[in-house]
Amino acid sequence: MDEAKLLQSIPSQAAFRQSTHQQTPQQITPSRDIAREQSIVLLQSFVQVLAAKDKNTHSHVNRVYKLTQEWTTYLRRRWMHLDQDFEAIEIAALLHDIGKVGVLDEVLLKPSALTPSEREHLEAHSELGYQMIRDYPGIQEVAQAVRHHHERFDGKGYPLGLKAKQIPIGARMIAIVDAYDAITSDRPYRRARSHEVALGEILNAAGQQFCPELVPTFIQFMHARNT
Ligand SMILES: [Fe+2]
Repeated sequence: MDEAKLLQSIPSQAAFRQSTHQQTPQQITPSRDIAREQSIVLLQSFVQVLAAKDKNTHSHVNRVYKLTQEWTTYLRRRWMHLDQDFEAIEIAALLHDIGKVGVLDEVLLKPSALTPSEREHLEAHSELGYQMIRDYPGIQEVAQAVRHHHERFDGKGYPLGLKAKQIPIGARMIAIVDAYDAITSDRPYRRARSHEVALGEILNAAGQQFCPELVPTFIQFMHARNT
């Protein structure tokens, strides 16, 4: 399924979730509004541009979106007391790398290691993605998660060097799923590593790169998913 179809599928998935017995009153309350729906329709053009520009990024964001959505579905059952806008996190997962439409092809598609200036150019994608979508109504939380998905829990990430819970929860979740997908995917310069290696690396980086409260829930979710 391409990203445009994934975006279009969000309303029906949300409606399905709201109809299940697992939902709490807070979750049944629609988290989305007409403004958000209209924004998502308009943002499909950005998604289509990114898909045409870089098939690998296209595949990556689809996987990150699907895994994030599975994780939020898992968390909905366990954090029923929280009035958390999980749908915003799911949309942010789909849009997290949208700023890569502004990255030069010779950098985005370069098969070898990037120079420091090329890396700086690539790393601008999270701030650019935020600037691209921030003025669309109904998706402010989405835009913040997109902006901060490369922050680190220890404050050594980018673009702002936020630390710990200064980083929006959606961004902290996407960072974990993003890393899992990166580790378990083939790259031009290395082969994909195993599911077990990925979970081990994420666990080792809890408290440094990743939120130490979210990492255990991700590991639990992945164990439940694979059993
Ligand atoms: Fe990114």
